[in-house]
Amino acid sequence: EEQLWQEAQTNKATIVKKKHKKDEQDYELVFDDKIDFVMQGTRKGHDRRGDRAKSASRRRTSTKEKEEAKPEAPQSTPQETEHQKILAGRKRLPVYPYREELLAAVKDHRVLILVGETGSGKTTQIPQFLHEVGYSKLGKIGCTQPRRVAAMSVAARVAQEMNVTLGHEVGYAIRFETCTSPKTIIQYMTDGMLLREILTEPDLSGYSCIVIDEAHERTLSTDILLTLLKDIVRYRSDLKLIVSSATLDAEKFSTFFDNASIFMIPGRMFPVDIYYTKAPESDYVDASVVTVLQIHVSQPLDGDVLVFLTGQEEIEAAGEILTMRTRNLGSRIPELIICPIYANLPSEQQAKIFEKTPKGSRKVVLATNIAETSLTIDGIKYVIDTGFQKQKSFNAKYGMESLIVTPISQAAANQRAGRGGRTQPGKCFRLFTAWSFQNELEPNTIPEIARTNMGNVVLLLKSLGVNNLLHFDFMDRPPSDSLIRALEQLYALGALNDRGDLTKLGRRMAEFPLDPMLSKTVIVSEKLKCMSEILSMVAMLSLGAGVFYRPKDKALLADTARMNFARGGGGDHMSLYRCYHDWAQSNYSSIWCMENFVQLRTIRKARDIREQLEGLCERVEIDPAVSVDGEVEPPMKAITAGFFYNVARLGRSGEYQTVKQHKTVYIHPSSVMAKDEKPPTWVVYFELAFTTKEFMRQVAPIEPEWLVEFAPHYFQEIDVAETNKKKKYGKARSKR
Ligand code: CDP
Ligand code: MG
Repeated sequence: EEQLWQEAQTNKATIVKKKHKKDEQDYELVFDDKIDFVMQGTRKGHDRRGDRAKSASRRRTSTKEKEEAKPEAPQSTPQETEHQKILAGRKRLPVYPYREELLAAVKDHRVLILVGETGSGKTTQIPQFLHEVGYSKLGKIGCTQPRRVAAMSVAARVAQEMNVTLGHEVGYAIRFETCTSPKTIIQYMTDGMLLREILTEPDLSGYSCIVIDEAHERTLSTDILLTLLKDIVRYRSDLKLIVSSATLDAEKFSTFFDNASIFMIPGRMFPVDIYYTKAPESDYVDASVVTVLQIHVSQPLDGDVLVFLTGQEEIEAAGEILTMRTRNLGSRIPELIICPIYANLPSEQQAKIFEKTPKGSRKVVLATNIAETSLTIDGIKYVIDTGFQKQKSFNAKYGMESLIVTPISQAAANQRAGRGGRTQPGKCFRLFTAWSFQNELEPNTIPEIARTNMGNVVLLLKSLGVNNLLHFDFMDRPPSDSLIRALEQLYALGALNDRGDLTKLGRRMAEFPLDPMLSKTVIVSEKLKCMSEILSMVAMLSLGAGVFYRPKDKALLADTARMNFARGGGGDHMSLYRCYHDWAQSNYSSIWCMENFVQLRTIRKARDIREQLEGLCERVEIDPAVSVDGEVEPPMKAITAGFFYNVARLGRSGEYQTVKQHKTVYIHPSSVMAKDEKPPTWVVYFELAFTTKEFMRQVAPIEPEWLVEFAPHYFQEIDVAETNKKKKYGKARSKR
């Protein structure tokens, strides 16, 4: 049997190749742009039957397994109803033959690590199996997903399989949208939602089973859930925990759960040939469109195409170009059905990607990395991988967490390629070079906890009621000193009280993906009624220094333009605000930018960031439009409230000293305050940069009373008093 299977594959591959040659010419008759690919390597197929490392139970014989594992199930007949067809489909899933064995393992173990290829039926079937044998009588069966779309779409599918209305027996819960009822027995939800539930129900007593799905994604919420659940299962002996992962690195989960058993769902994977571009592509959206057309015209119609892009905008752009280009060709090429899938796609349209492709046409799914492991689309044979994804990352320098387009890891690229080999041998076209794969991609995706600001991790854990962070059992423990530093800073900012509990302020700060200093500034500015000023300022600060340019031959003009923003005071902070404000007033004009020596591309980024911040404010019911019409004092007070750590005082020697570490620092020459004849006694700075000396970048004058008013933990009257006794008492008091 094994041999036949192998042979069948090689035959198929050669047939495809022959056809490929002939059809390629056709493609050139139709289009004049083309990308050259080189085939380099194959993602090996495998037949993992019987290869069950540390299987929870081995009671069955391997022959019996093989027989039952055959994917062929009775073919559907025309008389069958739609629902019967769905049920027949369930039986064809790789997980189906292992139902009894899996349930026996669940019965015997409190914690089970489950590994199975994407598409084996883990997400849709396992909660149903658990329900069918009665766990739902003891409590709800919960299943977490890192992605909202996955939670919704999978719940819809399972409701359909169980022939119930979505939201009744089967429901989902994602932030701002709960579709459940008291009848709900199987509940899909985002990992973040289950975390929130633990807040109100620390032992999850409403649940009999919890499936932590897609654990390999290692989102921050999943990581924290795993730690909390490890504790919960210790005292809730009736709770069943299944940690499910699509990749083979399950050992790590097993070790974390005190060597929990691993259950492997044997899967089959056909080989996928990997093609790379010969040269780097400058525009991957455009390149992906060309590749889709190339495949569509030159490859047999027996397989659909899956394209990995990074987000809604790109997906819409690619969709439009594809529609335009194929429409003009009419019947000269077979029909191409374009299906987008991304997080904010309305659910009616989400269902479209799962519809069977009609004969004589081909489907192309334009997806974000949601299709990497969270959703399985049947019938995909060709994968086009741009090599990018949007990933949350924290820019430590500018204190911002944001979604940015980043290269994927080698592991993710291989996972993506695998989507093409589920039912037949496939092909994956990588829109980058083989060199780039080897040399530029990280081997593995870095867990989110390592990409998040530590202050925000602490805020999240505190908001979950975790008190002793130093003993929190992280899967990947952050360095203790970075945890301690974060705790100290949050205390000084007033996000934690002296018992280390979260304050009301801290709870609100936890809503912002900003460095705690920035989120405090934003929240304080609500009271000071200068939201609008602060949002512009924060967005501009996050860009760094690069927003102004200074050509050598026009240096004087550039400096004048720059100093223009400084009129009215408030140092660099208010200058940045005025710059943004004036640009917005000019209707975001590019001519305005030229006249004022402002980099259009950079300031546009500020606009993006500002819009994201507005959205966040609205979420916590802060009106982002409230403004003090450019008045200096309120926004500078807000900055002081967040940045009192970064304060320096002018000493007798004419040099500034930081109040925290008594470091001698200088105003950066690019600051609008660099040439002030009478430098202010107290300044706040955004960051320190060491070049030839320790320079403060983005500096503004402040009044010492503001320190006492907005950072009373940290400063007292005596600290800021201008007396000769300064030296004796003058040290800023550090915490506690
Ligand atoms: O979780 P895992 O990747 O192991 O598989 P799954 O998501 O349970 O998918 C099993 C099958 O259900 C696949 O063949 C999917 O195509 C199908 N499915 C579907 O038709 N509609 C959905 N919304 C989700 C899954
Ligand atoms: Mg799944």
